[in-house]
Amino acid sequence: MTKSDNITWQVAKVSKTERQQLLGHRSAVLWFTGLSGSGKSTIANEVEKRLYETGISSYVLDGDNIRFGLNSNLGFSATDRQENIRRIGEVAKLFVDAGTITLTAFISPYRVDRDQVRALLGPTEFIEIFVDTPIEVCEGRDVKQLYAKARRGEITGFTGIDAPYEAPVEPEITIDTSKQPLTQSVDQIMAYLSEQGVIS
Ligand code: PPS
Repeated sequence: MTKSDNITWQVAKVSKTERQQLLGHRSAVLWFTGLSGSGKSTIANEVEKRLYETGISSYVLDGDNIRFGLNSNLGFSATDRQENIRRIGEVAKLFVDAGTITLTAFISPYRVDRDQVRALLGPTEFIEIFVDTPIEVCEGRDVKQLYAKARRGEITGFTGIDAPYEAPVEPEITIDTSKQPLTQSVDQIMAYLSEQGVIS
């Protein structure tokens, strides 16, 4: 379905900048990407906790959770994953417009889909975080037993096994959770946010 011609953009009376001033920090998307089991959600939730403890409200949009509701009609074909990421990009943009630091934890395996979200948000509001944990480590963890199912052929099109993962070329931040503890990953992200002036 394509966009209707009979719609008009409504301009809000309060701007994004004014909302950010009220909250006392800038807003941005921290876009975590990486294999299943790489640690995206774990780090995103820990960063949210750290921001909360610093007095900053943020929000995590998580792959599994969003697929229970907003994207419950989508599966894991390339087309569905593309639509999944497109919708999340739009939702993240709304959150950023509301002044919220937004953390998204989706595999987002296709570079072109992530780059579309980057273009939608703009260079200062899209921070790509590559959770570059080797597949052997992800598979070794296999918290949800999905790698085991994929190896047995009970799941097809599983990222890293029989579906592709295209690594970011120039992510703002790279983290390998097999090489550093969780607190160090959180420190790394908090330091980046300070350096970039997102938070003070
Ligand atoms: S995507 O590719 O960005 O649209 O995927 P996402 O919305 O992040 O959902 C990933 C979670 O779905 C579970 N799952 C699968 N992952 C990859 N491939 C297949 N076929 C698949 N089927 C189910 C899995 O729990 C992913 O969660 P994470 O947190 O990444 O482990």
